[in-house]
Amino acid sequence: MLVLSIETSCDETAVAIVQAEGNKIKTLASVVSSQVKLHAEWGGVVPNLAAREHLKNIIPVLDRAVKEAGIKLLEIDLFTVTEGPGLIPALLLGVNSAKTLAYFFNKPLVGVHHIAGHILSAFSDDKFNFQIFPEQFPLLTLTVSGGHTQLIYTDKPFNYKIIGETQDDAAGEAFDKVAKILELGYPGGPIISKLADEYVQKNNIDLDELDAQPNDTSVKKFFPRPMINKPGFDFSFSGLKTAVLYHCQGNSIASKKDKRSSERVNLSEVRGESEAFCKTYKSTSSKNEAFDKEIHQINTLQTAFEFQEAVVDVLVTKTIRALKKYPAKTVSLAGGVSANTRLRSKLQNAVKKQACLPTGQGLEFKMPPISLTGDNAVMIAVAGYYEYLYYKQNNKLKIPRNNWTNLDANANLKLKSFFIKI
Ligand code: KG4
Ligand code: ZN
Repeated sequence: MLVLSIETSCDETAVAIVQAEGNKIKTLASVVSSQVKLHAEWGGVVPNLAAREHLKNIIPVLDRAVKEAGIKLLEIDLFTVTEGPGLIPALLLGVNSAKTLAYFFNKPLVGVHHIAGHILSAFSDDKFNFQIFPEQFPLLTLTVSGGHTQLIYTDKPFNYKIIGETQDDAAGEAFDKVAKILELGYPGGPIISKLADEYVQKNNIDLDELDAQPNDTSVKKFFPRPMINKPGFDFSFSGLKTAVLYHCQGNSIASKKDKRSSERVNLSEVRGESEAFCKTYKSTSSKNEAFDKEIHQINTLQTAFEFQEAVVDVLVTKTIRALKKYPAKTVSLAGGVSANTRLRSKLQNAVKKQACLPTGQGLEFKMPPISLTGDNAVMIAVAGYYEYLYYKQNNKLKIPRNNWTNLDANANLKLKSFFIKI
């Protein structure tokens, strides 16, 4: 069957068309129009602005997807759309577009939970083809996005159980807020991740060696690891963001003091500073400005690195700990923050280590290709297709040709669970 999906929960207008048969899904088209540059000017997503852009983009994006797939809209058998959670003005645009299509073409319409989409994105190969097998369950997923940080245990397809979640900021939100503190722009995740990589390279840090060291959580770290020692699987990132803020305020006070007395900044605090640069500075005080800039840059790189280490450390530690209580066949990573290379490799290595233990035999790790980590409509098509199968298998779908009437955008939609045979 041909499935067309729409995703407009935040700042991406996305349409995808997939061909689904049994448990095989092949992507024919995936078009994403990002509004990131527009919202960057405001330092974050402005809901009404997002809605206006979705309105402008939805038809061109739909048109491109149909052309790319080489099909006609009347050939579509099923429409799926993100019904929530997300920004209500943005969701409304997608939901109403999908309702109109379903009504006009007299085809069923399935509303999808955004996170259910992200969870399934981990099953994609590089060409956005999917095949999900019952043997891959139970599944333990770390979902990290701009709005969510959750550990979700899915014992069978698709009985989702949230076993832990953030008590305040989501991981992606923390990346965005720290980037704001560091004046790096929006969205923060990609730029912080890039600066952290730069720091690793400049300082020849061996990350494998760093990870091989015993993880003594009582040893004081550069930034705190919130809730890492607390029982349970909840997270908290707002205190970490505050720690970064205080650290940066401390740095700026120190550099102002240095300016007044024309003394050297205490370079021993700045990892990676070169001897040569210190000597140059000593001989030419007129280079104050260049020096300040350089110090600022070094501090920023270090802060980005240390902040990322703290977030990734907590996420990986808690996921592996959850695995002990919730034995799984597959551990997966999903959501916008799953684009983070440090998180990808650290979690993958940690799961591999568990797979070597007698208790972890056959344990697999899955994550989406980088191009499916952010918001997209492919994941909504896949999740919507499985939900459709559920309705069909349970005769709940009197093929609701008119089911567009009972679908509405819901900013706080709860993750729906259902069982299907795949
Ligand atoms: O899933 P997503 O695209 O949208 C939501 O559903 O929220 O996630 C967006 C979030 C943003 O907070 C962004 O900063 C973060 O994902 N992000 C990253 C990276 N790329 C995007 N965070 C860390 N490292 C990255 N490379
Ligand atoms: Zn998302």
